[in-house]
Amino acid sequence: MIEKTLSIIKPDAVERELGDSIKKIFLNNGLNISKSKKVKITKQEASEFYKVHETKPFYEELCAYLSSGPIIVMILEGENAILKNREIMGATNPKDAAEGTIRKLYGISIDKNSVHGSDSLDNATKEINFFFKN
Ligand code: CMP
Repeated sequence: MIEKTLSIIKPDAVERELGDSIKKIFLNNGLNISKSKKVKITKQEASEFYKVHETKPFYEELCAYLSSGPIIVMILEGENAILKNREIMGATNPKDAAEGTIRKLYGISIDKNSVHGSDSLDNATKEINFFFKN
């Protein structure tokens, strides 16, 4: 099934100018980038975006981090895009990520893990609407 999913290149990767290299990995793996923009969000916006994690002990830090610098938000499209993107990103903790995945290549820590990707169809719709409303 052709799906759309939201991808974020996080502040650590934007700061290291890894945007183009990461985009190439998506394209080389058969995902199209139908929309892309660089934005800087407020801590309040990050708190809304990550609301699903609000009970987690790392929530505060997570929201502070996502709003700490520019990010690149993208809509990725393709066959099974949601799962495919998660495979391309690798495990949340770069230490556990498989060889060749974005987080293995570029992730620094569980917080600075370079990319975010929607984890379900429902969240993909919500997350795309969050950044690309029209
Ligand atoms: P992401 O895919 O953006 O979704 C939530 C983020 O929380 C996750 O990537 C990590 O960067 C961050 N995070 C920090 N600590 C943890 C943790 N203990 N378990 C899972 N995610 C964590």
